[in-house]
Amino acid sequence: MEVKYNILVIDDEMQIINSIRRVLNDSKYRVEYTTTPEDAYEILLSNDFDLVLCDQRMPGTAGVEILKFIKKFLPDTVRILITGYSDINAVVSAVNEGSIFKYVSKPWDNEKLLEVVESAIAYREEKKRKEEVYIQQWEAAVDSLKKQVIDGRERAVKSLLKVMEAKDAELLRHCERVSRYALAIADKMNLSEKQKINLKYAAVLHDVGKITIKDKVMYKPGKLEFDEFTEVTSHPIVGSEIVKTIDGMNDAAEIILQHHEKLNGRGYPRGLRETEILIEAKILAVADTYDALTSDRIYRKALNPEEAYEIIMNERNSSYDSDIINILIGGTLSE
Ligand SMILES: [Fe+2]
Repeated sequence: MEVKYNILVIDDEMQIINSIRRVLNDSKYRVEYTTTPEDAYEILLSNDFDLVLCDQRMPGTAGVEILKFIKKFLPDTVRILITGYSDINAVVSAVNEGSIFKYVSKPWDNEKLLEVVESAIAYREEKKRKEEVYIQQWEAAVDSLKKQVIDGRERAVKSLLKVMEAKDAELLRHCERVSRYALAIADKMNLSEKQKINLKYAAVLHDVGKITIKDKVMYKPGKLEFDEFTEVTSHPIVGSEIVKTIDGMNDAAEIILQHHEKLNGRGYPRGLRETEILIEAKILAVADTYDALTSDRIYRKALNPEEAYEIIMNERNSSYDSDIINILIGGTLSE
């Protein structure tokens, strides 16, 4: 049978230790001991003991002090005090302060001692079992809360997509394609699961701020007036404010806010540069531009992928991250 329980015996008399070892001569117990109470602290911290049996009267140290230490720093270790008849005061205070499970007085009856040890171990097992149940219940509660947040988020995203579709069905299709492209690029990069999830939400909602742009401005074929231009270029801000209202979407909102930033600082709304721009936003910018170029516009027909690649390539390092462009051109989207 394998060792199941680690027990430490602290007593300055080797004779006492040996008689306890004889009582606990069972392969399920591994009994460690020390006759030097000063060493007890180090031994206690070096191993995970299920049970400690500690003598009260030892030169230099009272057993109760060691047991108090265990109660404070190793509360899961069950504590038994071994006393002589004259130590009644020590027993009373140890019991009252809760620092011991039981006490055994010398000389003891071996069967009784074994019984006390077994009940201490049973107590320890029961406590462990209760803790496990408690942890399971806690984890289940956290899971269910997480699920509620995710469900809530999914519902909120769906309704925003509906609003986008109502404003302009092509706007929704653009967002869906961009989301697909962005995730295909992300799959070839070293992004964490969390970053990918944020990118997924950000991509599909990146232009949600456009729902507030007036139709006459949104579909104006000619040059935009200053006010109109401001209205259009504020869509990353509006979009990120909308998305921020959804639980757990702050990171996605930040990506949306940055999706028109350029490496050279000439993007909007904040004119961020290079490393100030999130990698997710850099991916989104490339996916967005690629889709814009390969879709029909009021003022031009859709370009084919090669033409789009060339235009994007010409802006590598000034606008777009060249590693991301390489992944795009590497045929990621057609796989
Ligand atoms: Fe946009």
